[in-house]
Amino acid sequence: MIFAVTNRLPEAAVELLRGAGEVRIDERETAIPRAELLALVAGAEAIVCLLGDRVDEELLEAAGPKLRCVANVAVGYDNVDVAAAERRGVVVTNTPGVLDDATADLTMALILAATRRLAEGDRLVRSGRDWKWGMGFMLGSSLQGRRLGIVGLGGIGKWVAQRARAFGMEIAYHQRNPAPAEVEAALGAERLPLRQLLAEADVLSLHCPLTPETRHLIGAAELEAMKPTAVLVNTARGPIVDEAALATALAEGKIAAAGLDVYEREPRVEPRLLALDNVVLTPHLGSATVETRAAMAELAARNAISVLSGQGPLTPVTSQ
Ligand code: DGY
Repeated sequence: MIFAVTNRLPEAAVELLRGAGEVRIDERETAIPRAELLALVAGAEAIVCLLGDRVDEELLEAAGPKLRCVANVAVGYDNVDVAAAERRGVVVTNTPGVLDDATADLTMALILAATRRLAEGDRLVRSGRDWKWGMGFMLGSSLQGRRLGIVGLGGIGKWVAQRARAFGMEIAYHQRNPAPAEVEAALGAERLPLRQLLAEADVLSLHCPLTPETRHLIGAAELEAMKPTAVLVNTARGPIVDEAALATALAEGKIAAAGLDVYEREPRVEPRLLALDNVVLTPHLGSATVETRAAMAELAARNAISVLSGQGPLTPVTSQ
């Protein structure tokens, strides 16, 4: 078995691959230049890649006819042209489940940071400027009794809802198909049309995949439909939100605040967002715990080995 690994991975996952075959790995911390990536994958039977690697016709062609599996070390797989892979008989896999808790935790952290002005407070203290406790000093908003609107009540969305319930929030959600009745019942979650969710949510949290349908799902009109006191949180994929429209909405007070972990053109961020105090920005940290990254890498490695050994993928994705 020949594995091309496009980035450094936790050692246990690399050992798994080494136990099964030859591993060609790019160990650098910075992004691998495209030409070198194309050379790395040439002749590979499986590619283990990250969400920043664009797996398209060009890369599949560069890999050549032996390629049988693309194991993406992420639950999101918008970086992979799955239909193109399918046309070549290449199986694509992702890493669902293992990062749900970590991402739900970070989502709660951003909800709290945005509603309680944590980053702004941290900046104030570090600035050395004078400040004084006062009844109106740096007030945020409470979560208790507030409505959390979740777009996409799947793996991660569900765990965010469960955590938010512990903070006293009510749950409403939007997705194409209703969640199972037992999930709705356990979370007390009400399914709403998107427009109604936008109008009613005190916090709107995005947990849908990036697809052609969800690109710019939240744009100027949707931000306009939200409450001026509402907070938007995005730990899913940057292009689901029109970042320029969001910067305008935050600057003009159309919504109160935002917490963002993902960006339209990572690692670049809309410059106007950087100047705003009412947005908390983190660098795509949703799954960034030692335990979670180890579990993601191991699942990707097991997927690649399982496909190459003829046992089929553990967690496949399809273009349908
Ligand atoms: C994923 O797995 O899609 C996440 O964005 C990684 O943090």
